[in-house]
Amino acid sequence: MKKWLKKVWHWIDDRSGISELIMPMLRHPVPPGSKWSYVFGSATLFCLILQIVTGVGLALLYQPSSDKAFESLQFITNQAVMGKWLRGLHYFGASGMILMVGIHMMRVYITAAYKYPREMSWISGVVLLLLTVSMGFTGQLLRWDDNGVWSAVVAAEQMGRIPLIGKYIARLLIGGDTLGGQSLSRFFAYHVFLFPGLLILFVTFHLYLVLRNGISEPPKPGQLVDPKTYRAWYKDLLKTKGVPFFPDAAWRDVVFGVATLLIIIVLAYFVGPPAVSKPPDPSIVYTKPSPDWYLLWIFALFALMPPAIESYVMFFGPIIVIGLLFSLPFISNKGERSPIKRPWAIVGSIATIIIVASLLVAGAKTPWSPNFKTKMLPLSVVNTTDTMAIAGSRLFYDKGCLYCHKVKDYGGKVGPELTYIARSLNAKQMTIRIVNGGDNMPAYGSSLKSHELNEIVAFLKSRR
Ligand code: HEC
Repeated sequence: MKKWLKKVWHWIDDRSGISELIMPMLRHPVPPGSKWSYVFGSATLFCLILQIVTGVGLALLYQPSSDKAFESLQFITNQAVMGKWLRGLHYFGASGMILMVGIHMMRVYITAAYKYPREMSWISGVVLLLLTVSMGFTGQLLRWDDNGVWSAVVAAEQMGRIPLIGKYIARLLIGGDTLGGQSLSRFFAYHVFLFPGLLILFVTFHLYLVLRNGISEPPKPGQLVDPKTYRAWYKDLLKTKGVPFFPDAAWRDVVFGVATLLIIIVLAYFVGPPAVSKPPDPSIVYTKPSPDWYLLWIFALFALMPPAIESYVMFFGPIIVIGLLFSLPFISNKGERSPIKRPWAIVGSIATIIIVASLLVAGAKTPWSPNFKTKMLPLSVVNTTDTMAIAGSRLFYDKGCLYCHKVKDYGGKVGPELTYIARSLNAKQMTIRIVNGGDNMPAYGSSLKSHELNEIVAFLKSRR
C-alpha cells in the first residue's frame, strides 16, 4: 500500500512539478527571532480560506433575487442541514478576518515593516484592506433584511452627496436610482465574483512579494534601514542566521491559525449567525440603520458629527485617510524601524484603537439607531382585553414602530417612549402623528390600511 501511494505521488510530482514549486517556499530561510507578533497575516489567510469554503456552501443554497433572498436565507437558517452553523461560520469568519487584517496592519505599522524594500507589500495590503471591508459591506446586504438593506441605502445616499461624481458612484453601486431587486443582483455579483477575484489576485501578489523580499527581521533600536545596503545586509543575515520557514517559523502560524479557526467554529456553533430581522419594507424609511459591527463605528461617526460638516467629511475624509495609508511608505521608507525610537507610531496606534472602540460603544448604545433586535410585545405588557388593541400591538411590532419607540422594556429609543402615551395625546393627535410622521418619524399615511390605523390607535389609547 505504502509503495503504491509512493508511486502515485511520484507520478503526480513528476508530471506537475509540484514539489519543485512548494519546497523552496517551505524551506526558504527567514530571519531568526520572528515571534508570535508575526502570525496575524497568516491568520488572515486562514480566515480567507474559511470564507471561500463557507461562501461556496452558502452560494449553493442562496437565491439572489429580491423575492427569494429572504426566503432562501430562512431556509438555510432553519431547515438546511448545518445551514445555521454554515451562516455562523461565514459571519464570524468575516469578523475574524477583519480583526486579523486590522491587527496585522497595526503590527506592520508599529514595527515599520513597510520600509524599504517592502513598500509594495504595504500598498497591496491597503488594497486588500479595502477589498475586505467591501466584502463585509456587500455581504450584509445579501441578508436582504431591514438592517442590510437600509445600511446600503444610507451608504448610497452618503456617496450620492459627493460633489459632481456622487450621483454616478451611487448609481454604479446600487444599479439604479433606488434600491431594488437589481441592487441585490449587483451586490451578489460584487460579493461572489468581482471582489473575491480581486482579493485572490492581490493575496497572491502579496504572498509573492513576501517570498521575493523576505520577511522583515524583528527591529532593533539603532539598526537603520538604508536602501543602498539593505538587500546585501539582509542576504547576509539569512545566510549566517536564517532558519527554514518550515518548520522553524511556520509552526506558530499553524498553531495560531488553527486556534483562530477553533474560536470561530465555537462562536458559530454557540452564538450563531445574526438573526434575519424582517424582509425590507419599502414603505418604511429608516433614517439610521444599524450595520454589522465593523461598519457600525463609521455610521456612529457620521451620526455624532454636526450635520453641517457631514458632506465635507464624507468627501474629504476617505480621500485623506486612504491617501495617507497609500502614501505611508513614501513618507518614510528608510531609517529607524524600532517602535521604541518611533513613539508616535505607538501613540497613533493606541489612539486609533481607542477612537474606533469608543465609536463602536457609542454606535451600539446610541438612541438614534433603531433597535432591530427587539422582540414582539408580550401580552403581559400589552395588558388589555380589547381585541382591537391587541391586534394593534401586533401591528405596532410588524410595522416597525417598536424599532424606534419604547414600550416598557421593549423597543428602541429613536422616538419618544410610548408606554403611557395616552396620558398626553388623544386619539386624534396620535392619528395625525402616525399619518404624517415627523422629525425622524416616517409618515405611515400611505402604508397603513384604515383598520390597521384604528387598531394601532386603539392600542396606543390603552397605554395610560
Ligand atoms: C424611524 C423611527 C420611527 C418609527 C419606525 C416610528 N416612529 Fe413614531 N416617532 C419617531 C420620532 C423620532 C418621533 C418624534 C417626532 C417629532 O417629535 O416630530 C415619533 C413620534 C411618535 C408619536 C408622538 C409621540 C409624542 O409623544 O408626541 C407617536 C404617537 C408615534 N410616533 C407613533 C408611532 C407609530 C404608531 C409607529 C408605527 C406605525 C411609529 N411611531 C414608527 C420615530 C419613529
